[in-house]
Amino acid sequence: MEPHKFDTLAIRTQAARSQHKEHAVPLYLTSSFTFDSAEEAAAVFSGEQEGYQYSRFGNPNSDEFTAKLRLLENTEAGTATATGMAAVFVSLAALLKAGDHIVASSAIFGNSKHIIDTILPDYGIDYSFAEVDNNESWQQALRPNTRLLFVETPSNPTLKIADLAFLGQLCRQHNIIFVVDNCFATPYLQQPAAFGADLIVHSATKYIDGQGRVLGGAILGKEVYVSQCYDYIRRTGASLSPFNAWVLSKSLETLAVRMERHCRNAEALYHYLAQHPDVATVIYPHAPSHPQYALAKKQLRQGGGLVGCELQGGKERGARFLNALTLHSLTANLGDTRSIATHPASTTHAKLTAAEQQAVGITPGFIRFSVGLEHIEDILHDIEQALTASQ
Ligand SMILES: Cc1ncc(COP(=O)(O)O)c(C=O)c1O
Repeated sequence: MEPHKFDTLAIRTQAARSQHKEHAVPLYLTSSFTFDSAEEAAAVFSGEQEGYQYSRFGNPNSDEFTAKLRLLENTEAGTATATGMAAVFVSLAALLKAGDHIVASSAIFGNSKHIIDTILPDYGIDYSFAEVDNNESWQQALRPNTRLLFVETPSNPTLKIADLAFLGQLCRQHNIIFVVDNCFATPYLQQPAAFGADLIVHSATKYIDGQGRVLGGAILGKEVYVSQCYDYIRRTGASLSPFNAWVLSKSLETLAVRMERHCRNAEALYHYLAQHPDVATVIYPHAPSHPQYALAKKQLRQGGGLVGCELQGGKERGARFLNALTLHSLTANLGDTRSIATHPASTTHAKLTAAEQQAVGITPGFIRFSVGLEHIEDILHDIEQALTASQ
């Protein structure tokens, strides 16, 4: 039989039915599981017999969520985490030890950067930053003790693209663990394992939930690394709650249709902004004007749901524009059904110095749109009236 396609796997991968033969998966809100005898308890605890023990270790809802996501990312193994940050932290902390060195791109989520340049150095783990879109800078950052390479692509918020095939090859050559944060693309648009990623981390809070309701995360990849991450999670408590896992697993069922529409709306917004005289620059991975258009086309099935732009008039104009929006939400999240506008320089990336912001392309007037699933005419109308009102 032909293997099922992405959309079907997302819908039909399901925890075993209970004796009630329910159609939709039940919510297993239980902290622990029972045993019929002392012998069974001993066998499950020793690993001789399969079975659930305690929801910090595993639960049918979190297992269903990771089973689906593992198939969608096409990896050997997967495990779930309480948040995206827990996934990022565990993928580093579980695999590194004092004396190791990490190379990461400078254009990564602020808290991921904080883990690498502030928390891990206290444990004797050193780091260097490379430019996400500059292959030479990755090569130059390597040291004999480099154990892990961490990258986010497309990058947040300037949508630069890392060359995954190049980095995969570099990591293989130097025996380095290759970790990709695939939050912006989702497995629907990009499957980093196909380019040699050993581990893929997700903030499921974004497109995977897609409706702005719950926090969650996941780590997918090679069994040898995922099993170390799983052990770290079950001992240190970064496990995903069954409720959030249930929500996220149901959300995956609609990931493909949602991503199609996010991309279609984002492309339309890109075209609108590109011709507008008040817009200085606009960035979208699948736009021919993107400096890495060819690479983005190779790696990403579609251009994604995020669009960045710089308005004429810099920071002040940007603030007036945001204040004039009536449909778009002003919030730091992304990947929601609701369209969101963000000013990274004063919110998500405010902790970076002005020089650091400049280095990763965050100009004072840069605005990031997370294009939602509303009707495109309403989205464009809101932007048009805010551009006029902010002149
Ligand atoms: C690329 C990226 N990775 C990780 C995270 C962290 O995820 P969470 O908020 O679920 O902890 C975020 C955003 O919050 C993100 O944008």
